[in-house]
Amino acid sequence: MTKILKPTEENIKESAKLILNDEVVAIPTETVYGLGANGLSEIAVSKIFKAKNRPQDNPLILHISSYEMMESLVYGLNDEIKEFLNNFWAGPLTVIMKKKEIIPNGVSCGLDTVAIRMPSNEIARSLIEECGVPIAAPSANISGKPSPTTAEDVFVDMDGKISAIIDGGLCNIGIESTVLDLTKKPYTILRPGFYTREDFLKYEDEILIDDALVTGNTIPKSPGQKYKHYAPKAKVLVIMAKDRKKSSVEIENILKDNENLKVGIFKFDETILNIQNENILSLGSINNLEEMSQNLFKGLRELDKKEVDLIIVEGCEEQGLGFSIMNRLKKSASGNIKYID
Ligand code: TXA
Ligand code: MG
Repeated sequence: MTKILKPTEENIKESAKLILNDEVVAIPTETVYGLGANGLSEIAVSKIFKAKNRPQDNPLILHISSYEMMESLVYGLNDEIKEFLNNFWAGPLTVIMKKKEIIPNGVSCGLDTVAIRMPSNEIARSLIEECGVPIAAPSANISGKPSPTTAEDVFVDMDGKISAIIDGGLCNIGIESTVLDLTKKPYTILRPGFYTREDFLKYEDEILIDDALVTGNTIPKSPGQKYKHYAPKAKVLVIMAKDRKKSSVEIENILKDNENLKVGIFKFDETILNIQNENILSLGSINNLEEMSQNLFKGLRELDKKEVDLIIVEGCEEQGLGFSIMNRLKKSASGNIKYID
């Protein structure tokens, strides 16, 4: 059985020992929980792929606690890049740079680049420092499922498969970091996340978004973007409506048409429903997308626990953080989206 550990100093030391012994420990970060292992050990990294059932061509992020640690992993970390990174680190940004030979092949999966992130979560930071090596950590879900944002959600997917989970409570942000390719200018967003294009444009004249994220017609430059993702067991239907009243009429109609199904509803506080249903969860306010980002994966997993057949989720405008949230939600729904205007 997998141990759930409180984030005490003693437990951080114990977790560091496990990691330096090539074991896998789930760790809290400000975005989602990660499955952490020694990022310089081929054996440790292979255990991550096994626990998650992760496709072998999907590379991992190395989590670091200092630029000094980063210097040993990548080429091209100059003052200009450090100055840029200082605006976002420590925090929910992952950058792609040319890798040094020290990186195990299991981390970079045959690419000549590596993904690096300096998390702001204090528990993650102190664990990395205690280990003295970068920690490779993908999101701590079984591949294809929504990322976990609580230790309990990690336990559901990982019990018996990893040594321990450090319980750091609910993740603040709730969706994964933004992945930004720094290998050439203009920098390109490969996976949208908490930081948006607008945030980067404060410091760079031009920021591109990988074509595959916009049109879906090209092969994504971030291998992970091509897989089915974030999908709960239940079927997901996304309702896109600007007008909350129209959205509630639509949801009520769908419920009437599906009386034989157990339906979960995941809606904004401003959408008022005139129906009885015990499986209604809140996305937060339509005017506060940070609430939606924090609630999304947690709620999808909660509705799965209630064993609903269908989850109706309200979508938001695809702008700023909304672009990142909708990137996840559309994948959860495998493209099952209804637009209402
Ligand atoms: O917020 C996060 O980023 C979380 C926490 C735990 O840090 N981690 C996370 O890891 O989301 P994962 O493995 O679920 O997603 C990493 C993404 C994948 O889409 C992967 O394809 C991409 O980063 N990636 C990793 N290395 C890459 C590389 N060298 N080039 C392009 N994309 C890369
Ligand atoms: Mg993931």
